[in-house]
Amino acid sequence: MSSALGAATYNYRVVRQFAWMTMVWGVVGMLVGVVIAAQLCWPALNFDLPWLTFGRLRPLHTNAVVFAFGGSALFASSYYVVQRTCHVRLCSDTLAAFTFWGWQAVIVGAVITLPLGITTSKEYAELEWPLDILIAVVWVTYAYVFLGTIARRRIRHIYVANWFFAAFIVTVAMLHIVNSLAIPVTLFKSYSMYAGVQDAMVQWWYGHNAVGFFLTAGFLGIMYYFIPKQAQRPVYSYRLSIVHFWSLIFTYIWAGPHHLHYTALPNWTQSLGMVMSVILLAPSWGGMINGIMTLSGAWHKLRTDPVLRFLIVSVSFYGMSTFEGPMMSIKTVNALSHYTDWTIGHVHSGALGWVAFVTFGCLYYLIPRLYSRTLYSLQLVEAHFWIATLGIVLYITSMWVAGIMQGLMWRAVNDDGTLTYAFIETVAAMHPFYVIRFLGGVLFLSGTVIMFYNLVRTVVGAEPATAAIPLPAAASAH
Ligand code: HEM
Ligand code: HEM
Repeated sequence: MSSALGAATYNYRVVRQFAWMTMVWGVVGMLVGVVIAAQLCWPALNFDLPWLTFGRLRPLHTNAVVFAFGGSALFASSYYVVQRTCHVRLCSDTLAAFTFWGWQAVIVGAVITLPLGITTSKEYAELEWPLDILIAVVWVTYAYVFLGTIARRRIRHIYVANWFFAAFIVTVAMLHIVNSLAIPVTLFKSYSMYAGVQDAMVQWWYGHNAVGFFLTAGFLGIMYYFIPKQAQRPVYSYRLSIVHFWSLIFTYIWAGPHHLHYTALPNWTQSLGMVMSVILLAPSWGGMINGIMTLSGAWHKLRTDPVLRFLIVSVSFYGMSTFEGPMMSIKTVNALSHYTDWTIGHVHSGALGWVAFVTFGCLYYLIPRLYSRTLYSLQLVEAHFWIATLGIVLYITSMWVAGIMQGLMWRAVNDDGTLTYAFIETVAAMHPFYVIRFLGGVLFLSGTVIMFYNLVRTVVGAEPATAAIPLPAAASAH
């Protein structure tokens, strides 16, 4: 079906809106990331203003990149994929529009309240109770629109990408609602329903599965649709994708306690979290192999298609961070890595290499098709790819070196049992690595700005593509 016909049949409006906001929030969130990276090198950059301090901007960064940038990308791609693979329009345009405006309202609420210091202080769940209620309402509506569309599908088969999107939507609703249960005391202050170690356990059950379902399952939905489309090849193994799905969602949900090693959490719970995390390597790599091997017989396309390169390199980073994660969850390794910049390196190999790269590939695929245009410049995509890749390499290698050094310096003891290094010496030793990370961040952000420009030029002032852009069949019959 051509894009023009698709635009009449399907609700592309909400997909376009979310796609553009993905770019806007991507630039904002990464800019804040660059600012806090600079503050760690040169602390005077907070200008002694409370709302510019690292402690307030850091949650703004994480909320903006994970929920605003990543979230908008997931809304855009899931709404597009569910329509295309079910051959039916979204079940309600009004409710879909509500999810768009509601989600943007949540983000604006975060942008205002976090710099003001209004926070629950639970990581990745910092927003206070009125915004939490709004998130819950928007999210349940999202579930209704997505699952309601699947229920009305004209194709009997439910394509695997939709399974991943559905699992992500349903699980995030459950995680958010359970973890956010709180007793409000004022409009801007509430206290968690849970106390002590139970609070920590619920929080990291949520926190880890925010990674597992928000930053992984949803983006695997993107992988399963957009790689076959861009490569014009069927998914390597449809059977493997089903095994991948069930094993991944079953295992992820148990792994949260690896964030709480050596704490007051019962020891058996920590060990269970560790074992489940190590097992998680298998389904994760099954998925990676399925994504990468989709290119079998079409490897040559990587030489000429930079969009495909974004998608395939993202899956390689996914493999890398899902190898590193299980290693870090082993208690003896975690004894070194916990609290250090190694964790930050791990986070960003997943966040930049996997989440952001697969999003970039998806946007380069989507925007031209949503507007029936050809991409403004492939050279700019090529430039974006190399600048961003260099940025990631600088970011993660500097954090690995810094983190391991930090861990080793903290635990170094003299013969008489006293610490070899004062804490401030370890802070000073980090400085050169923080500068390298800052440069990596600047490069990564520059790449994102180049993409934004390229995609704006694709749409503004360009003639519609004369021939319909071919939309090759993906893995199954649609
Ligand atoms: C098999 C998959 C994975 C496992 C077993 C795993 C395991 C871990 C472990 C052990 C930590 C350190 C916890 C600590 O010391 O506090 C961690 C931190 C983290 N990982 Fe992973 N990881 C995996 C994949 C990923 C991926 C793909 C991403 C991103 C897309 C990611 C994002 C994060 C984040 C954001 C944190 C930091 C959490 C925090 O302390 O704020 N992880 N992970
Ligand atoms: C230009 C790109 C980026 C830069 C310069 C950057 C920089 C930073 C910095 C400096 C921190 C704080 C580290 C610390 O506390 O020591 C951080 C934390 C974090 N960033 Fe980024 N970031 C970028 C992009 C992203 C993206 C795209 C994502 C997600 C999709 C992301 C997710 C996170 C998360 C989850 C944390 C918290 C990690 C933890 O608590 O362990 N970042 N980032």
